[in-house]
Amino acid sequence: MSSRIHSFAGYQAAYQKSVKDPEGFWDEIAQTFTWRQPWDKVLDWNFEEPRVKWFVNGKLNITENCLDRHLKTRGNKLALIWEPNDPKERFVRYTYRELHEKVCQFANVLRNNGVKKGDRVCIYMPMIPELAFSVLACARVGAVHSVIFAGFSANSMADRIKDAEASVVLTSDGLNRGAKQIPVKRVVDEALEDCPSVKKVIVVDRLGWAVKMLPGRDVYLHEELQKVEKNCEAEEMDSEDMLFILYTSGSTGKPKGVVHTCGGYMVYTDYTFRNVFQYDESDIYWCTADIGWITGHSYLLYGPLLAGATTVMFEGVPTFPDPGRFWQVIDKHSVNIFYTAPTAIRSLMAAGLDHVLSYSLDSLKVLGSVGEPINEEAWHWYHIHVGKERCPVVDTWWQTETSGIMISSLAGVTPMKPSHAGQPLPGVQPILVDQNGEEITENETEGYLCMKFPWPGIIRTTYGDHERCRLSYFSTYKNLYFTGDGARRDENGLYRIIGRVDDVINVSGHRFGTAEIENAINQNRHIVESAVVGYPHAIKGQGIYAFVICADQAPANPENLRAEVIETVVEHIGKIAKPDKIQIVSGLPKTRSGKIMRRILRKVAEGDTTNLGDTSTLLDPLVVDEIIQGAL
Ligand code: WTA
Repeated sequence: MSSRIHSFAGYQAAYQKSVKDPEGFWDEIAQTFTWRQPWDKVLDWNFEEPRVKWFVNGKLNITENCLDRHLKTRGNKLALIWEPNDPKERFVRYTYRELHEKVCQFANVLRNNGVKKGDRVCIYMPMIPELAFSVLACARVGAVHSVIFAGFSANSMADRIKDAEASVVLTSDGLNRGAKQIPVKRVVDEALEDCPSVKKVIVVDRLGWAVKMLPGRDVYLHEELQKVEKNCEAEEMDSEDMLFILYTSGSTGKPKGVVHTCGGYMVYTDYTFRNVFQYDESDIYWCTADIGWITGHSYLLYGPLLAGATTVMFEGVPTFPDPGRFWQVIDKHSVNIFYTAPTAIRSLMAAGLDHVLSYSLDSLKVLGSVGEPINEEAWHWYHIHVGKERCPVVDTWWQTETSGIMISSLAGVTPMKPSHAGQPLPGVQPILVDQNGEEITENETEGYLCMKFPWPGIIRTTYGDHERCRLSYFSTYKNLYFTGDGARRDENGLYRIIGRVDDVINVSGHRFGTAEIENAINQNRHIVESAVVGYPHAIKGQGIYAFVICADQAPANPENLRAEVIETVVEHIGKIAKPDKIQIVSGLPKTRSGKIMRRILRKVAEGDTTNLGDTSTLLDPLVVDEIIQGAL
């Protein structure tokens, strides 16, 4: 049975039903999956605690839905096409039957190495097939996966491992990234110096390097695979058992572990995948996100596999060996549905049209965008030059915390408008509120974007600290989930996401808390204090602008100091959080109560200092003149 919507009237009917009778609506959709035991109650919720349970007492294993149930009808259908970093290396394809076997074997390796239901397993791996196998293998044995993007530093990894008390780490010797090779295992070894919970490290041999293996702790996957059989009974999970933890940045403190559970996540990712992309059985689908981010979890792996689709996984980068790589892969594998981020579109747009024109993009039917607002120029370029004006563009708004797409057009079915995510999906009830949390009912207005009713993929908790979940998302406005985004609703009820209204910056679609970057910068011995803000960046969407106060008021060599500060950030977070601009200042604009007035710093970083607003409450207004003068 398919729960795909085919017409605008169909969308309206589904939406109405989902609001009038949310339980009935999701109950019907959930029945299209394989459950070991049905649920007693569809939904149990309360946003105050918060407590949200979907498909209460239902029993299942998500991998039986991603793999086993397809074997009868789709056993020989391609499940995964893996495209390597270097186009000269051969790509690899796995049918559903082959993928099932790979996952089962990997799951047996996990069990052999002591992994049990509920254990946390940290995965720090490049975009190789074993990453996909390992995620699903965890789910098969009921272990909670915590994938850490392989660009994060040893420090970041250690923080996440300690927070989750992971007992096993899955990794590789090294990774390919464009023309570079990066020593992954070495980063793991460094992280583990400080992580006593980890008892085993399973290493994939990607590059054939002779890496250091700690006896008793480190084992090679290929050796472990020799010891196991092909069949692996899936663990029975409760709907509300944890499926995974994924760390993401918020406005305060260290990144938090967003927790998603088995039943709701399964139903939500499958439903949204089919509907947003209007997926057809024979489509080849490619999402360029890394599995280390939520987009890779939900729309490279789980969503497409649940739907029985063929999903492409790409190891490389958009610009290697040249900026035609994406278009070449689309041509090579006849990709029908292509899902990427605005930052990639903008950088490929800057590389010139020739690269696009060298390949056939005739197979494309649907284009998607995710992770940050897409500006009109990039939208039109994507629509005209990649989609040749025949492919609908779905601008999908959602978050790590929502687990799946929330606001988006359904490709070719509901209205699309450049730079607008569009209408909410069935089951999603957004509202805009003002500063006091009062609902703004009129259209053509802006407000803070909240949700007033749970959907199956909603965040359940932040790992190890439920109160943090409540404070971050459910306490700003009473009885609402607060997204942290500002949005505008147009005359037809289409939403345009403006961006974060909290201290989170979105750099190339990656989220960082300003406090997180400041904490990293402050680890540098020359730095006394710092303040970080985002500013508009032509390619990355937002760039990172850091204002720093040095111990030595006038450093002899500011360039060296900047380089050192960058090094510190790379060491504490990773290359992806490198500040784009570092301004050395003698003071920061603070109020008498000691709070930094970020509003002023943001204006300076944007290069717009004509109207700084009221600065009379500043402790030392003169500091602002100095900052303006030294602006980069
Ligand atoms: C932003 C990524 C505008 C937004 C799936 C959100 C977007 C944050 C869009 C979540 C979009 C994501 N248009 N902004 N289509 N998609 N965002 O958790 O600010 O990495 O709150 O999830 O990205 O980022 P996250």
